[in-house]
Amino acid sequence: MKMVRDMATVEKLKLKPKISKSLKITGIILTLLLCLFLFYTKQIHDLTKLGYSTKASQKILFSFHKEDVMKIGENQTVNAAFESEEFKEEYLEQYRKIQYVNHKRLIPHIHQLLEKGYSINDINIILAHGDDDAVERFAKRDKIQYLEEFYIVPYAKLDNYDRYSAYADATGEDDEFTVLYVNLDLDKEDYVDAVHVSNFSTSMLVSKHRYLDEHFAPNDLAAIDSSLASSDDLQASRYAINAFRQMSDAASQEGYGIVINSAFRSYQDQVDLCNLYLNMYGQNYVDKYVAKPGYSEHQTGLAFDIGSRNTNVFANSKEYPWMLENAHKYGFIQRYPEKYESITGFRQETWHFRYVGVEIATYMYEHKISFEEYWATFIDK
Ligand code: DAL
Ligand code: ZN
Repeated sequence: MKMVRDMATVEKLKLKPKISKSLKITGIILTLLLCLFLFYTKQIHDLTKLGYSTKASQKILFSFHKEDVMKIGENQTVNAAFESEEFKEEYLEQYRKIQYVNHKRLIPHIHQLLEKGYSINDINIILAHGDDDAVERFAKRDKIQYLEEFYIVPYAKLDNYDRYSAYADATGEDDEFTVLYVNLDLDKEDYVDAVHVSNFSTSMLVSKHRYLDEHFAPNDLAAIDSSLASSDDLQASRYAINAFRQMSDAASQEGYGIVINSAFRSYQDQVDLCNLYLNMYGQNYVDKYVAKPGYSEHQTGLAFDIGSRNTNVFANSKEYPWMLENAHKYGFIQRYPEKYESITGFRQETWHFRYVGVEIATYMYEHKISFEEYWATFIDK
């Protein structure tokens, strides 16, 4: 019995160093893994702290670019490059200098443009002037020599390049004028290849190049109180009616009297009006003064033909200069002044005012620009 116990003790003593040795190795491995994990977490943390995504940070780490990226610092284009499956090591320096734009295919487009021979400056210009699809189309075309020619204008469009060139060559106009005219489609015939406008907004543009379909009416069409108008069956957008009421009250307080003579006109109303003027004055008159059905701002419900309560001819009334000085405070603009005839395509109409809201009207008043210019610069996307 004693002998058996002694044997067991001997066995235990033999096993002890073996167990403690493997425990030691496991401990070392675990410590190493822990250190590695802490090291990895710290590296990722350094990068995410700089604004890099976890995905980009992992790629940066495993491609051994951490030091380079730490030197670059925060950079959204570099982040997008590391996130992209198409990342190219040799373009790291170029990515760094390219201004980030939120395009899905930013990195492949940068590659295409670099491979076409565009400089960093060119690429920044291209990316700033078009969305993903426009850049895609532009990257496919032959390289353009002097991008700064038209793209010095912030709202120049990539897709319009050929039209800018053709218009500038044909007219000798400068870059700014060319971009404005082409963006407004003024290089096209009136009423030809026009853009369909379907969304109502107080800053919408309807012109000889932008039309409404025959069913269009403003969302908030309402009857105009007969105290504001020369007849009791007029309608307009509520925005415009409310603003006109305030303007009319202010005018009255200062001793002026303004009245609405024409407001919302449906597509059919404009058909009838065109026919009426055609019979009375002929086609030439209609072309200059009356918009074709679908192309009249009156169909938006935001335009008013305004008269004086004191004088028959509005242009000779005391209300006319009052309107020119004050209408913007209530959100109205004179839509067809003489100096913008070449842009609007209509002869001067002293009486036609359009509601665009106080902000836009005031900006236009202070900067002395047409609605088309405002729209092309700030609204057209
Ligand atoms: N008279 C303006 C241009 C119109 O017909 O809408
Ligand atoms: Zn009018």
